[in-house]
Amino acid sequence: MQPIKNDKPTDIKIHFNKPFIVGKELYNIAQAVLNGRLAGNGEFTRRCQEYIEKTYRAKKALLTTSCTDALEMCALLCNIGPGDEVILPSYTFVSTANAFLLRGAKLVFVDINAKTLNIDAKKIEPAITPRTKVICVVHYAGVGCEMDSILAIAKKHSLIVVEDAAQAMNSQYKGQYLGTLGTVAAYSFHETKNFISGEGGALIINDESLIERAEILWEKGTNRGKFYRGEVDKYTWVDIGSSFLPSELTAAFLYAQFEMAEEITKRRLTSWSYYRDRLRALEEKSLVRLPFIPETCTHNAHMFFIILNTEKEQKDLLARFKENKILAIFHYIPLHTSPMGKSMGYREGQLPVTESLSMRLIRLPLYFDITPAEQDSVIDVIYSFFNLKRTGE
Ligand SMILES: Cc1ncc(COP(=O)(O)O)c(C=O)c1O
Repeated sequence: MQPIKNDKPTDIKIHFNKPFIVGKELYNIAQAVLNGRLAGNGEFTRRCQEYIEKTYRAKKALLTTSCTDALEMCALLCNIGPGDEVILPSYTFVSTANAFLLRGAKLVFVDINAKTLNIDAKKIEPAITPRTKVICVVHYAGVGCEMDSILAIAKKHSLIVVEDAAQAMNSQYKGQYLGTLGTVAAYSFHETKNFISGEGGALIINDESLIERAEILWEKGTNRGKFYRGEVDKYTWVDIGSSFLPSELTAAFLYAQFEMAEEITKRRLTSWSYYRDRLRALEEKSLVRLPFIPETCTHNAHMFFIILNTEKEQKDLLARFKENKILAIFHYIPLHTSPMGKSMGYREGQLPVTESLSMRLIRLPLYFDITPAEQDSVIDVIYSFFNLKRTGE
């Protein structure tokens, strides 16, 4: 079978990300077709949700078509409306912000901690006003935020904690899985994540009182869930909602990845450590900084990045990767300095840690089946950039 043409640049030697299959993905899709159910909320959706609930000890999981959708459901479940304020980092993907903006909230961006790149817990309390309703944390690179402090602040001020755990499935904070600490949370199964289904996500509901409404929002504002369970004899329109649930084809693909979750995580951790062990010498010389994992956290090896000392080094090293046909990328343009952020009145200089780090960070290629030889090519470019020879490996 010939692969159909894709739109990825063809002269790249090492891609930043490569989607992968590990087991029964295509077989499961055939099963879904043979079962005669392609629409959502079927057998594979149920299996995926049960897997998440059991493995991560989550009260309720609902598959969604993306993490973006799951975040929008979080905002709906929090009853966010005009006049409400939401505290969040500016150093995140746009979906964290859009979810709340779509409901008319005011976004209050808070700076990050320079070590973890997660929201700085110490800067949350000064940003709280009588209108604050939600603290939305983002576990950057799959490494947990300071959840004890954040949950204590939320409790003190009666705020809801939403976890954007897009990158953080299978990571822990003090022995509890990320995504199960806040009131609600969102995971991503986009093809760049650890477990993938092309596009895909999950909403995690940790507050039992929100489960019934979540199912209704998910089923387009109907009580179809109750109908399926035989609790009502007809289903009808009972609330707002939208098309949040994915097709069984997506769930079938995803379930095969869950079945191989241990193998996927093991391979990613090996690749992550390969970079860390070989780049450590550069950190010792203070030429780069590597990811920092707090003692309270275990991580899922979602991302490997280096932080350079200057903005110019970031630009020059990115160019050097490009010359060597390697796709490495920067992350992110802070939301408060984006055109949207500026239209809300934000400006450069307001969140100095976010601004400085985003201009110095480079994400290295990391995917399920990256080989040591490919990683060596990436590492060699970095060493040659600093005019150094690799030693001590
Ligand atoms: C922190 C964060 N939030 C949300 C998203 C959106 O995820 P999705 O692409 O599944 O909608 C991403 C995707 O990269 C992300 O990194």
